[in-house]
Amino acid sequence: MADPAPAPDAPVLFFDSGVGGLSILGPARALMPAMPVVYAADSAGFPYGTKSEAEIAARVPALLGRLVERYRPRIAVIACNTASTIALAHVRAALDIPVVGTVPAIKPAALSSKTRVIGVLGTDATVRQPYVDRLAAEHGADCIVLRHGSAALVAYVEARLRGEPADPAIPAGALAGLLDQPGGERMDMVVLACTHFPLVEDELAAAAPRPLTFLHGGAGIARRIAWLNGDAPWPEGAPEGRAVFTRIDPWVEALRPALDRFGLRQINAL
Ligand code: DGL
Repeated sequence: MADPAPAPDAPVLFFDSGVGGLSILGPARALMPAMPVVYAADSAGFPYGTKSEAEIAARVPALLGRLVERYRPRIAVIACNTASTIALAHVRAALDIPVVGTVPAIKPAALSSKTRVIGVLGTDATVRQPYVDRLAAEHGADCIVLRHGSAALVAYVEARLRGEPADPAIPAGALAGLLDQPGGERMDMVVLACTHFPLVEDELAAAAPRPLTFLHGGAGIARRIAWLNGDAPWPEGAPEGRAVFTRIDPWVEALRPALDRFGLRQINAL
């Protein structure tokens, strides 16, 4: 029997360790303005990029299970490359709703690279994943695929969204982690393989010593959500979005203006 259509007010759940998933939520809201949203940030577990595979694999499916029970979403989006490259299969096995993952956009980068050198800028945990090896082997077999993990850039993006001042040394340092590797002088594409990073794409471009093309999966994920939703109706009128944190601390209050820009007006603890 086909699954019953979701209730019109059933939200789409976006999940990340912090604010990174906003780079996925943004294009999704632009495509589906009437989409009800629950944005969940695992602030108690942040950051993910410096954690072990075992920690992520234990934490993420359990947390998604609690969120689905609480908010009854129609679709869950793991808006985090670290969680997706490690735990996507576990989450899919544990939930009975469609689950969309976010994985590094190596395929489009390899399709467009003229120099055949592409960079993957993610977290330490993401860039060492076999999932990334497979994407590189499948789509970029004739490319040099450089990888660099930057926990400093993740922390920087969180700080920027709390309104703290820009420091061009941090984005420049993250890019140098790729450019300074053998072959880096020929790199033309940079895959933003952490959802935090597109939120400072302009700063990365400004800090780059020469023009580079930055890619990420936000627009493709938005189309995927729309396709999975099919004809299921959205509620009348643009609903207020909800942001849920696994730990509410003073930083959350400082994020309020950034969350507001993405339509997230209600804030609460899980
Ligand atoms: N935004 C996350 C990602 O896409 C992880 C950031 C972190 O918690 O280290 O990988």
